[in-house]
Amino acid sequence: MIIAVLNQKGGVGKTTLAVNIAAILARNGRRPLLVDGDPQGSSLAWSSTRERAPLFPVVGMAKPTLHRDLPQIAQHYDDVIIDGAPRVNDLSRSAMLASDLVLIPVQPSPYDLWASLETVQLIREAQQFRPHLAATFVINRKIKNSALGRDFDGALAPLGMPVLPAHLQQRIVYAESAAQGLSVAEAAPRSEAVQELAALVVCIAGTSANQERRAA
Ligand SMILES: Nc1ncnc2c1ncn2[C@@H]1O[C@H](COP(=O)(O)OP(=O)(O)O)[C@@H](O)[C@H]1O
Ligand SMILES: [Mg+2]
Repeated sequence: MIIAVLNQKGGVGKTTLAVNIAAILARNGRRPLLVDGDPQGSSLAWSSTRERAPLFPVVGMAKPTLHRDLPQIAQHYDDVIIDGAPRVNDLSRSAMLASDLVLIPVQPSPYDLWASLETVQLIREAQQFRPHLAATFVINRKIKNSALGRDFDGALAPLGMPVLPAHLQQRIVYAESAAQGLSVAEAAPRSEAVQELAALVVCIAGTSANQERRAA
């Protein structure tokens, strides 16, 4: 499956999710490719910091022709995860046209909710060309026992996009592991963060995007 992690807002967790979803897929025995679609190159920086053998290849493809170039490369992998660029519409559009599923990380804050409207609008436009493109919010950096975190599903409802039932909490291990070029699954294999990531990957596999791809 080709999954794009996109939000026009920066700092919401696109790179964190892309790297760690790819790592869980690799741990599960799949062959993922991580595509860095952001000119800032954070996923590439993560992989060059890494001293251990790679878990999966990371390639830089921050260009608006991604949808033309990716299908051929994707044939060699079970899954492709695209770490998207903030703000640049033509890069996001191209990533959407290349994908089966868009994950929209969003933090439980009104600023993130408002800023996500632009991404939702871009997805609606892409769905005109690609009616089977699925998209879902992923709540990231949820703070335990906070009312805002608890009610955020409801706050997102008016935007008309589903919300993945698996959420990720705010945890320091995401930055700590990234600093060493590691995934959370390697740095803290028995942590709650890994359990949340594994549950997220199960939810992704259960989305309509994956069912349709399998049926095709
Ligand atoms: N669930 C989380 N818990 C704690 N920190 C997080 C979490 N998700 C992301 N972060 C931190 O937030 C910052 C921005 O995340 P990043 O993945 O770079 O966002 P983006 O790619 O959308 O710009 C990073 O410092 C990252 O470590
Ligand atoms: Mg990033």
